[in-house]
Amino acid sequence: MAERCFTMCKPGVLNRRLVGQVITRLENKGLKLVALKMMQITPELAAQHYAEHKGKPFYDELVSYITSAPVVAMVWQGDDCVSLVRKVVGATKPSEAQPGTIRGDFCSHTSHNIIHASDSDSSAEREIGLFFKPCEILDWEDSASCWF
Ligand code: PPS
Repeated sequence: MAERCFTMCKPGVLNRRLVGQVITRLENKGLKLVALKMMQITPELAAQHYAEHKGKPFYDELVSYITSAPVVAMVWQGDDCVSLVRKVVGATKPSEAQPGTIRGDFCSHTSHNIIHASDSDSSAEREIGLFFKPCEILDWEDSASCWF
């Protein structure tokens, strides 16, 4: 099976009307969208999602931001999906994110990063399992895949 990556438009993206632009960039890369939902993250889910960062100085701010408004959670699929998504997303720090990447073009503060993307296959599997039931992931027939 092709690799998958969990990706999430964080709060602020809806307000700034950027959801379409984020999705377009990942679609343009040739990745396949296999799951998508808008949701309000609970503090419990945020704590599970960011468990590895608990204790870091920015943890409380991270949880408070992600629970402050709805997010758009997605699963993307394709060969080498995690590294391709992270290339399109760009570096975590806006000052290090290259122009042309999502963070490079739309973020100016790390604390208000507009997008999260899994950083490894194992994180992707864990995060997809937190946010989606198996029946919510639709591995549709992609007749255009040979063109990418
Ligand atoms: S990464 O992308 O996971 O490798 O980056 P990392 O440096 O490990 O950061 C993990 C998440 O924490 C957010 N972050 C911060 N938020 C607020 N303030 C500060 N200073 C800060 N530094 C890092 C960063 O945006 C990552 O969020 P996600 O949702 O994983 O992208």
